[in-house]
Amino acid sequence: MDIKSVGIVGAGQMGNGIAHVFALAGFDVLMTDISQDALDKAVALIDRNIDRQVGRGKVSAEDKAAAMGRIKTTLKLTELGQTDLVIEAATERETVKQAIFEDLLPHLKPETILTSNTSSISITRLASRTDRPEKFMGFHFMNPVPVMQLVELIRGIATDEPTYQAMVKVVEKLGKTAASAEDFPAFIVNRILMPMINEAVYTLYEGVGSVKSIDESLKLGANHPMGPLELADFIGLDTCLAIMNVLHEGLADTKYRPCPLLTKYVEAGWLGRKTQRGFYDYRGEVPVPTR
Ligand SMILES: NC(=O)c1ccc[n+]([C@@H]2O[C@H](COP(=O)([O-])OP(=O)(O)OC[C@H]3O[C@@H](n4cnc5c(N)ncnc54)[C@H](O)[C@@H]3O)[C@@H](O)[C@H]2O)c1
Repeated sequence: MDIKSVGIVGAGQMGNGIAHVFALAGFDVLMTDISQDALDKAVALIDRNIDRQVGRGKVSAEDKAAAMGRIKTTLKLTELGQTDLVIEAATERETVKQAIFEDLLPHLKPETILTSNTSSISITRLASRTDRPEKFMGFHFMNPVPVMQLVELIRGIATDEPTYQAMVKVVEKLGKTAASAEDFPAFIVNRILMPMINEAVYTLYEGVGSVKSIDESLKLGANHPMGPLELADFIGLDTCLAIMNVLHEGLADTKYRPCPLLTKYVEAGWLGRKTQRGFYDYRGEVPVPTR
């Protein structure tokens, strides 16, 4: 199937980045959200972010205008029914995602491929509650979408080969690189990254190092561009904890036990950059370690 149009559900952090890269790659984009404000903010943000690419000479002014012209928004989920590919990028709650699929399915063309950008929820389970498990896949973009090169493609147990191949082509057209992952908790990137971040929090919790010494050690000693605690603040400590819980429950192995100190930060509402405080305090001129 030749995919020309894409429907995006959810205009948050990920939804707007996904709309941005699809529009620049020449796809017609129809984005929906439950909030008009979220849709308006997403379009304004895409405009600003593409402007920055124009400023750096990476995108021409004509291509920017054409991309912005390809992005349409609607509050009516059912209008996405005529698109060739649907990407669900709404809030990371299974009941929310299920309700979206239930409302959308009666309006969807039979050939439309249905995907979810979930970071952790089982693709097989989401797919099993739709009318097209063979045309259902995990389509996991990294944050920030316009910058990060990788896309994880996750097959559910029933996903068929033509669907997988169609998605490989879409990723190529976006100019990104696909990594194929089987449907197990947290897939590949977060399966490896989150236990490392969790271990960094344990290292802090047990007093082996301070926030500064842990981050510096990994930056200078392992050549990581960001320290693990700095990275956790960037991702969001609530997201890190949610993924550790999915690994712990899904794989039933104590090695994935979330660090109690991570739980404590989340309970305090210190979620990282988005709340101005996490392992660092971002309220002043420069980030200051909180431990
Ligand atoms: N944040 C990340 O780093 C990251 C990375 C990869 C994948 N993801 C996944 O992407 C998805 C979205 O995450 P995000 O960070 O963009 O979240 P977000 O909170 O920034 O955005 C979610 C959006 O979904 C909208 N929404 C909620 N219910 C809806 C509904 N019924 N219909 C339409 N829209 C609805 C909200 O209004 C909001 O605008 C999640 O599944 C998350 O796990 C996130």
